[in-house]
Amino acid sequence: MSQPVLEAIGLAKRYPSGTGQLTVFEDVSFQLQKGESVALVGESGAGKSTLLHLLGALDTPSEGRILFGDLVVNEAGEKALDAYRNSAVGYVWQSYHLLPEFTALENVIMPRLIAGESREQAAPQGLKWLARVGLADRATHRSGELSGGEQQRVAVARALVGEPQLLLADEPTGNLDDRTSEELIAQLFELQRSEGLTMVIATHNISFAERCDRVYRISSAALVAA
Ligand SMILES: Nc1ncnc2c1ncn2[C@@H]1O[C@H](COP(=O)(O)OP(=O)(O)O)[C@@H](O)[C@H]1O
Ligand SMILES: [Mg+2]
Repeated sequence: MSQPVLEAIGLAKRYPSGTGQLTVFEDVSFQLQKGESVALVGESGAGKSTLLHLLGALDTPSEGRILFGDLVVNEAGEKALDAYRNSAVGYVWQSYHLLPEFTALENVIMPRLIAGESREQAAPQGLKWLARVGLADRATHRSGELSGGEQQRVAVARALVGEPQLLLADEPTGNLDDRTSEELIAQLFELQRSEGLTMVIATHNISFAERCDRVYRISSAALVAA
């Protein structure tokens, strides 16, 4: 079998709480293969966002290891982590997190500008990804002027502009109405398949979860195959 894109081994996350500690989850182990889609479900507060943060190196585990190819994510130095966050992983949040005063195109290319590319270098890639999410004609609109569904599509283009292998989506339709949610999810799956992306999507929507190759549930501080 081919090497997994990502492997989590014995992950735990604990927070100090009063005199003791809160265990969000422990002993979480799984592998993600190239090109597969995995849903992450569980009640509010179960730890879905926490787990995605660990996978995206936005937070560190209390125990355990995360392997991405040769990179041990939880032991990596800042430089390797910056590269991992900026180009290996794409992140889509529930609340878009765009910069409203900047145009759709500027928002999309922001990760490449941060990585040191010039606007001239980055713009063609940005336009390509805006076109892929159906927003080529919105490139010069300020993102704050776009609808919620359009803003989330800009966020998807931004997540993919670095050509990541892993796409992490945290309740990406949580702020959208039913029809717009359906459109966004259809587009996410289309991009995930055509790009061969590995995708982990936290969602409360059972129908969206069932469209993934596998479903994991966080329940009673454990990750179980659902
Ligand atoms: N920085 C923090 N300090 C203490 N507790 C936290 C912190 N972040 C999250 N938690 C707790 O961890 C648990 C899991 O939260 P979260 O991952 O956001 O759940 P979900 O995304 O499944 O709704 C919750 O009980 C939450 O209160
Ligand atoms: Mg959450």
